[in-house]
Amino acid sequence: MNAAEREKAKRNAGMKAAEFVRDGMIIGLGTGSTTYHFMVRLAERIKAEEISVTGIPTSLQTAIRARELGIPLATLDDHPDPDLAVDGADQADRDLRLIKGRGAALTREKVVAAAAARLVIVADEEKYTERLAGTVPVEVIPFAARPVMLAVPELGGEPAIREGKAKDGPVITDNGNYIIDCTFPTIPDPAGLEEELTLIPGVLECGLFCRYTQKTILVAGNAAGTRIIGKN
Ligand code: A5P
Repeated sequence: MNAAEREKAKRNAGMKAAEFVRDGMIIGLGTGSTTYHFMVRLAERIKAEEISVTGIPTSLQTAIRARELGIPLATLDDHPDPDLAVDGADQADRDLRLIKGRGAALTREKVVAAAAARLVIVADEEKYTERLAGTVPVEVIPFAARPVMLAVPELGGEPAIREGKAKDGPVITDNGNYIIDCTFPTIPDPAGLEEELTLIPGVLECGLFCRYTQKTILVAGNAAGTRIIGKN
């Protein structure tokens, strides 16, 4: 898939996911470029069909974009049990276990994914993979950064504090923390690794999402259309 095809694939996935929205729904709004396509289509539907929906944003980026698009927003304080969450992913395996967090929004994304009745993942189909492997982002309170850096190699990973692109020094998340990108050549037991990473003191969350497979569907986009993968 070249860059133009990938962009079409993401757009197709995002637009398809908007079909899952019904009038009156509370919707978790994920973060990233594919979710943005979903929000654009959702905003179109809100205007054209006069449906009433409320979004729960998972990041500052999403909150800003949703406001620009005219999508009404609320918080989990108002609506702790969204009907649906729509979000992107970096990888999805055959059991719909995910790696997320390229955009550093993984903790709020996980909170919303856990709270929602259904999780719709939008991604280009090249992210649908036989086995998860590679970089798992981990959100860490700054106080614990060094001990976490020392603990990750014991789990087989190589840790690196994520640095800003347009800012010198570490990326600071929407929650005021660091991201430690932990690279694993293979991940034979994703659920076990998720548990072990999140048990390290000072780790807030990790980008492995293994607990929501039963309520997850994947809308895998390609340049020509989409494929729906999952039980629901
Ligand atoms: C944000 O932290 C991430 O979890 C994104 O949802 C994920 O990286 C997918 O992003 P794209 O849709 O931009 O590829």
